[in-house]
Amino acid sequence: MRITVSRRAHFNAAHRLHNPTFSDEKNEAIFGKCNNANYHGHNYELEVFVSGEVNQETGYLIDLKVLKDIIKEHVEEKFDHKNLNLDVPEFANLLPSTENFAKLIHDILASKLDPAFSIQVKLWETPRNAVIYPAIDQIR
Ligand code: NI
Repeated sequence: MRITVSRRAHFNAAHRLHNPTFSDEKNEAIFGKCNNANYHGHNYELEVFVSGEVNQETGYLIDLKVLKDIIKEHVEEKFDHKNLNLDVPEFANLLPSTENFAKLIHDILASKLDPAFSIQVKLWETPRNAVIYPAIDQIR
């Protein structure tokens, strides 16, 4: 039986969306408040989905304590109360948009979990705006 389990997490981080190849006016027009020169914070909500075959001996897909600890160590502790632009090497040359951030979190978790699992993340930057990666039309 193939199934999906999920785990939620929360952290706060600051960022600035600014493309140095754009003029100041273009940055302001495209990124709005997220272009603020002195950064700003978001209360990020994360939901991680893990899909695969249920283990017939345990009845589990994955021990949720294991998933919880991996998210805590490799996502929450890496990003909570950080400045994404300045503190996270992966964003040194990559815009810390919710889109790019969701993919980064996905790739980190995929590298820590059994490759037999398929992983999807949903990252909310605000209570109403979220990004899902991989795209829901690409889930295998
Ligand atoms: Ni922002």
